[in-house]
Amino acid sequence: MATVSFEHVSKLYGQVKAVDDVSLEIQDGEFMVLVGPSGCGKTTCLRMIAGLEEISLGTLRIGDKVVNDVAPKDRDIAMVFQSYALYPHMTVRENLAFGLKLRHTAKDQIDKRVADAAAILDLGPYLDRKPKALSGGQRQRVALGRAIVREPAVFLMDEPLSNLDAKLRVQTRAEIARLHQRLKTTIVYVTHDQVEAMTMGNRIAVMNAGRLQQVGTPQDLYDFPVNRFVAGFIGSPSMNLMDVSQRADGGGLEAQGIGISVPAWAREAIRGRSVVAGLRPEHFELGEATGPTGATGATVSGIAEVVEYLGSQELLHVKVYERDLVAIVDSSANVKPGQNVTLRVPLDKVYLFDADSGLSLAVRPTAAG
Ligand SMILES: Nc1ncnc2c1ncn2[C@@H]1O[C@H](COP(=O)(O)OP(=O)(O)OP(=O)(O)O)[C@@H](O)[C@H]1O
Ligand SMILES: [Mg+2]
Repeated sequence: MATVSFEHVSKLYGQVKAVDDVSLEIQDGEFMVLVGPSGCGKTTCLRMIAGLEEISLGTLRIGDKVVNDVAPKDRDIAMVFQSYALYPHMTVRENLAFGLKLRHTAKDQIDKRVADAAAILDLGPYLDRKPKALSGGQRQRVALGRAIVREPAVFLMDEPLSNLDAKLRVQTRAEIARLHQRLKTTIVYVTHDQVEAMTMGNRIAVMNAGRLQQVGTPQDLYDFPVNRFVAGFIGSPSMNLMDVSQRADGGGLEAQGIGISVPAWAREAIRGRSVVAGLRPEHFELGEATGPTGATGATVSGIAEVVEYLGSQELLHVKVYERDLVAIVDSSANVKPGQNVTLRVPLDKVYLFDADSGLSLAVRPTAAG
């Protein structure tokens, strides 16, 4: 097992900074997910760990060893790619054993490791089949198995589930999580899917345009996003983000159909700034404030144009003047399309960002206290 640490690592392709000054400590045995939109530099980070991409600036360590100039084969890592190619003319057993044979591993060692990997991944019944006689999910497990038999210090996985259909993704997601609990090996896992990131990672590193935005547990990122990008990226459906203006009396923020009252202690943080407010769909409650008079928080009035029934909840597309907001409420509310609704979000669930820098404004309790 091993740690992986990026110290001010950059990757330049000519003028393009694919990865821009990333510093990140991945702990021994940790399941770290790199997540971000397409082109943000996730695969490049992974390929630098693997040694498949040269590092332009900075230092990369695996364990205590600086690996900037260490060849891929000497790094003790195994990588699972999005487009895994199994050898079609070989059985599952031969596919699993192939990499070890190339490394001249002893025959009894190979047999043992193949048997162990097959047991972990439930591939026992399929060992003598060729890949074409397997389902997509089984093939994916063989691809994982080929990494497992290597017994590496670090697993690198680049969108390994993206070829699977929705149901199989959920199943294989759980299998990889179980695999990690069992092997306790450091895993660096790349995905652009924030749901995958939230469900699998011990910690998540959110990237955008080559830069690391925030690193934390799924709950840290959800509760305390450091900026507007992370706030909008983490959570599904996405947080509603809206420009708001300072209320003339200084007691809060407003926009057409939207009012946010801010307690006195938090007004300093927003004074004189252009502010973007963020409200998560799942934090809305239907109805006017019922709390003590002067209760703080956001109130939104609009028309529920579309209502999507989700079972225990319903998803409302609410038109608030020119804006479209998404809210999720209890389906017992039974909102009818075209109905006028008033929605409320308590202050401790209202997010505010500086419109210019995008940084979170501290008007709510933070992780640090
Ligand atoms: N060999 C290359 N030459 C020039 N630019 C490259 C090269 N490889 C990657 N890039 C650029 O570097 C940036 C990061 O690419 P990378 O593949 O790391 O993105 P990603 O986050 O993995 O995206 P995706 O989710 O689409 O896989 C992109 O803008 C890409 O176009
Ligand atoms: Mg990629």
